[in-house]
Amino acid sequence: MKVLVTGMAGFIGSHVAEALEAAGHEVSGLDRRPAGGCQAGDVRDAEPLTRSLRGVDAVVHQAAKVGLGAGVSDLPDYASVNVYGTAVLLAAMAEHDVRRLVLASSMVVYGEGAYDCPAHGRVRPGPRAREDLARGVFEPRCPRCGAELTPAAIDEDAPADPRNAYATTKLAQEHLAANWARETGGTAVALRYHNVYGSRMPRDTPYSGVAAVFRSALEAGRTPRVFEDGRQRRDFVHVRDVARANLAALETDTCPGSLTVCNVASGEPHTIGEMAAALAAEYGGPEPVTTGEYRLGDVRHIVATSDRAARDLGFRAEIGFAEGMRDLAVAPLG
Ligand code: UD1
Repeated sequence: MKVLVTGMAGFIGSHVAEALEAAGHEVSGLDRRPAGGCQAGDVRDAEPLTRSLRGVDAVVHQAAKVGLGAGVSDLPDYASVNVYGTAVLLAAMAEHDVRRLVLASSMVVYGEGAYDCPAHGRVRPGPRAREDLARGVFEPRCPRCGAELTPAAIDEDAPADPRNAYATTKLAQEHLAANWARETGGTAVALRYHNVYGSRMPRDTPYSGVAAVFRSALEAGRTPRVFEDGRQRRDFVHVRDVARANLAALETDTCPGSLTVCNVASGEPHTIGEMAAALAAEYGGPEPVTTGEYRLGDVRHIVATSDRAARDLGFRAEIGFAEGMRDLAVAPLG
């Protein structure tokens, strides 16, 4: 296929482009900060899009403003790049009769992970209270009875609960993609990435995830600082697996006229403390410290089932945690 990858010069986009090319696709790219073989352009501008979309069979849309950001001052930029940019892209795709879309989404659309209450079954706790976090009570409680909860893997049917600008705009992108698919009869797949890590990760910025923060600290000879009690769980998925998931989504004939949503996760969740320890050991120190600090917007546990990606896209992650941490310790950062 002839495929346009937006955000091709970025961390995930560059790996996606490599995976698509290796599988024999003809890849072109569009990026605000272009590198090697991709065109300069912003998805919000119809003109470079028109040039880039000519003769294209599919778009893999990775261009986005990511991360937690610097606060409310970032809202307009998130909305502009992620929501308006996707709207312009989809309109241009319709105009050029491009009928296939793969969209980079995120597990942040879920908000807090899934939990089971012994009395009330599956529950979704709201944001944790500052007073609880301040006194070291990190585990969310049952919103109905206050009982202790058991974390569970989240599936794609869980209700969305976007809790920051990035999450809200990722969910809006999914809805726009569903609108586009319905109106055009096109096929669209949204991949809800869990915590992606690997070579060319951006260094430590307000927009970086924890794996990049720890790796940057180690490189600078600083101690990785593990927040809360270090027992919060995430699913760290290697960027080469994420690239393979994009390839699988591109090549699968999903249901035309609707959006297919899949988690992209390793299926091997770990605590942040375990991740810090494994990475520091592979890097050769310094040892992480668990600080009890907290960030008000953080969720406690978010881990996923990967069954739908396996069933609908034939995708399962291949790079395990130990191998991935070995790789991250030596990987060049972006
Ligand atoms: C991250 C991203 C989110 C993305 C998602 C999936 C950020 C800020 N968040 O969410 O945008 O959609 O992955 O890829 O980019 N922590 C520490 N020490 C630190 C920094 C963080 O212990 O120095 C802890 C946090 O308290 C949290 C965990 O690590 O418990 C994960 O943090 P982070 O990677 O920033 O955010 P996620 O919620 O996983």
